[in-house]
Amino acid sequence: MSSARLIAVVNQKGGVGKTTTSVNLAAALARAGHRVLLVDLDPQGNATMGSGVDKRAATRTVYHVLLGLGEAAKIRLRAERGGYDLLPANRELAGAEVELVELHNREGRLKAALANVRADYEFVFIDCPPSLSLLTLNALVAAQSVLIPMQCEYYALEGLSDLVGTIKRVRANLNAKLEIGGLVRTMYDARNTLAQQVSSQLETHFGEKLYRSIVPRNVRLAEAPSYGTPAVVWDPESKGAQAYVALAQEVLEREGASVSTADQAA
Ligand SMILES: Nc1ncnc2c1ncn2[C@@H]1O[C@H](COP(=O)(O)OP(=O)(O)OP(=O)(O)O)[C@@H](O)[C@H]1O
Ligand SMILES: [Mg+2]
Repeated sequence: MSSARLIAVVNQKGGVGKTTTSVNLAAALARAGHRVLLVDLDPQGNATMGSGVDKRAATRTVYHVLLGLGEAAKIRLRAERGGYDLLPANRELAGAEVELVELHNREGRLKAALANVRADYEFVFIDCPPSLSLLTLNALVAAQSVLIPMQCEYYALEGLSDLVGTIKRVRANLNAKLEIGGLVRTMYDARNTLAQQVSSQLETHFGEKLYRSIVPRNVRLAEAPSYGTPAVVWDPESKGAQAYVALAQEVLEREGASVSTADQAA
């Protein structure tokens, strides 16, 4: 009788691989037979497009869900190629930031909106925008776990302390259950000495919290969104896809304990 594990994919730094990680983990777990919902919580709508759904054609989105103008159960779509369900987003969501401020329970809107659908899934991933905004706050209040994609660069660690501070404040005030599920190294170039150094700093700093799977810089991961197909489906043999399949296995081991791993329908 367990319900979904909600995982927010967060880093306020732009372009670190949040969406690529969200889309490919959703697809990898779906391929392994798990029931997955991907929530696109970014007005850029990249997770929507990367899932093969045209954000411009999506008339009802997570924006409507957040503002109480529609139900998640009616607005979610099937991302056929990825094998998961999607709550789409588009630029309309940028307005929510302002409109939410006026509303009661403004940080808890997403959590409340997902309450009716979460029993349908084992995993819900929330792809966050590159900011610590009210949208991201909604994800942190809804989630049980935070997954932090990181590029191994000089400034990577600096932004991390702001994020960790925000997570602590959310835990203290709004969501006592929130934990850092793990950090994942993305776009990794093993030939780059700085990347190696930052990577080992992360190991020292975060120990067990750091996922062992490392996502390499891989052009197939960058190309897949233009086909509206997650790379793990589009080119499963590519190094990037294989890294995400390995990461999904680790996520399953780490986060899946509370999730029923009932046999998939044959
Ligand atoms: N491992 C990788 N190798 C090569 N390219 C990658 C990799 N991961 C992501 N990319 C590309 O880098 C860009 C940024 O990735 P992505 O959109 O996943 O980051 P993001 O953190 O979601 O960005 P934003 O903060 O704008 O939402 C995209 O063009 C994506 O295709
Ligand atoms: Mg993104």
